[in-house]
Amino acid sequence: MKFTESFLQELKMRNELADVAASYVSLKRRGRNLIGLCPFHGEKTPSFNIYTEDNHFYCFGCGAGGDVISFIMRIENLDYVEAVKYLAQRAGMDLPENSYDDSMSRLRKRIFEANREAAHFYYKSLYLPVGREGLDYFHCRMLSDRTIRHFGLGFADDDWTSLTAHLKSLGFSENELVAANLAVQRRSGNGVYDRFTNRVMFPIIDPRGNVIAFGGRIMTDQKPKYLNTADTPVFKKSENLFSLNNAKNSGSRTLLLCEGYMDVIAVNQAGFSNAVATLGTSLTTEQAMLMKRYADEVIICYDADEAGQKATSRAIPILRDAGLVIRVLTIPNGKDPDEFIRSKGADGPAAFAAVIERSGNDIDYRLQKLRGEFNLETSDGKVAYLEAASKIIASVVSPIERDVYASKLCKEFEIDKTAFNAQLQKLDKSRSREENRRQQQKIRAELSGTADRFDADRAKERRSSSAEEALVVYLVNNPDSCDYISSEISPGQFKNSLMRRYYEYFLERIKSGKDPLNNTTADFSREENNRVYKMLTKYAGVAQTKQTLGEYIKVIREESAKPKRGDVEKMSGDELNAYLEKIRNSKK
Ligand code: GTP
Ligand code: MN
Repeated sequence: MKFTESFLQELKMRNELADVAASYVSLKRRGRNLIGLCPFHGEKTPSFNIYTEDNHFYCFGCGAGGDVISFIMRIENLDYVEAVKYLAQRAGMDLPENSYDDSMSRLRKRIFEANREAAHFYYKSLYLPVGREGLDYFHCRMLSDRTIRHFGLGFADDDWTSLTAHLKSLGFSENELVAANLAVQRRSGNGVYDRFTNRVMFPIIDPRGNVIAFGGRIMTDQKPKYLNTADTPVFKKSENLFSLNNAKNSGSRTLLLCEGYMDVIAVNQAGFSNAVATLGTSLTTEQAMLMKRYADEVIICYDADEAGQKATSRAIPILRDAGLVIRVLTIPNGKDPDEFIRSKGADGPAAFAAVIERSGNDIDYRLQKLRGEFNLETSDGKVAYLEAASKIIASVVSPIERDVYASKLCKEFEIDKTAFNAQLQKLDKSRSREENRRQQQKIRAELSGTADRFDADRAKERRSSSAEEALVVYLVNNPDSCDYISSEISPGQFKNSLMRRYYEYFLERIKSGKDPLNNTTADFSREENNRVYKMLTKYAGVAQTKQTLGEYIKVIREESAKPKRGDVEKMSGDELNAYLEKIRNSKK
């Protein structure tokens, strides 16, 4: 895969990061930069910065950084070539033919195609004699043929090669089928067999309409009940949601978060297309951020059983941190949404709507749960409950919202509101003390580099690392001085191996006449790329002059002349004298 330098430059010029990002992040101007809530991690105070002058972003919260291509890769979950294509299309640019045919993109494309064909095949099987059992199963669970078609549900039969044979006849290779996890390599190494057999099938479709994976349910009590596609180049279980493709078009900024496939489908059939589900794992931050892109509010619709309630308690802070407003559904009689809707027959949709109507927010939910843990008949129990409740209320940021809960509670327990507010203030203080302490710890670890496993040399070689870093940034920002710098310092004099790698890379790019930063997104790993932009950001407001350059060079020389720790002990008397002489000279 090769895009020309000039193509990439034009691409970036025609897709200004600030413009592109504005459709995902609400940005405010701060000085010359733009700032907003980071779309890559949950946060309440903005630390996502766009540096409009050189078109890069950096988040001080999670360390994500890069150019407009890195941004699109992350936010749209695309690989490099796909992101370039996406931006080219956005700017109405033609892609140079064949330039984007790199092997990973080709494979991803083939997997999407294979998945689409597989979904067709499974769907068609459902209405053939071989799929009778599957169709009966869905009908028994009260799904209409319309719903089955809408979700593209299907059936994987009992023969261990039918899908594989079909896809091979369409030209897919065994390698592609294994990469898609539609087929599995035989242990003997001889050929492949179908991954899913004798299950009803649920295709998982992403918001762009690609079939990215499948879930399959066994029709008996056997285990495992559900089997999902393993992670593939187009699918990561922990970063996707079932039915987001439908929910995205529901026209609502509220999502109904369910536990499973069948709940989502039943809820849809009852007329609510804004339902999604995680894929058999507990909710992740990535999934919460994904929801935040399409919604402002999430109603948790987990099962009313104990497992569902535990999952609810785990999901609440994750959703809150993603900046979502939360409500929690309480389904009567310990049912899941699917069972509840079915049990009401024709009244299912109205009954479910009423349950949604009654759902309280997460604070109500937590206070309600908490009640069950104390004996409110006794004074001790009351005091303990109120203390625990005050902690929950203190976690609410909005003062008005706080006051609503505080007033309700004070009224019910006939306590003095001034006393209760004093308790809240006490909690606020201790929390801000705790936050300060944590913040300071983080800054200290950051400065000393002790917490940095990715750049492990930094902790050992602090002085040289910062000079080397400064030199690399200087080089990137002043490519004209490349010849001078490289005649003064060779990569071998770098002590920090990460910085050395960057130095070599940028020297090489500049010497061959290229813009140093044009292609970092493709040439570096995500973390390496983040670090490049972290360094640039660190120096964004710092004046680097010829004079400071001279200092970097001096420090790097001094440091590289020093023997490694431990070597001094092994020196002979003469060697030691020569070494001390050298240090004395360099200090003059
Ligand atoms: P039905 O029994 O078909 O109504 O499914 P359910 O959604 O009521 O099942 P349950 O509450 O047991 O599970 C909820 C979700 O967890 C399912 O939709 C699956 O995504 C996931 N799940 C359940 N069992 C398994 C399993 O054995 N393996 C995996 N990978 N996921 C499972
Ligand atoms: Mn169920």
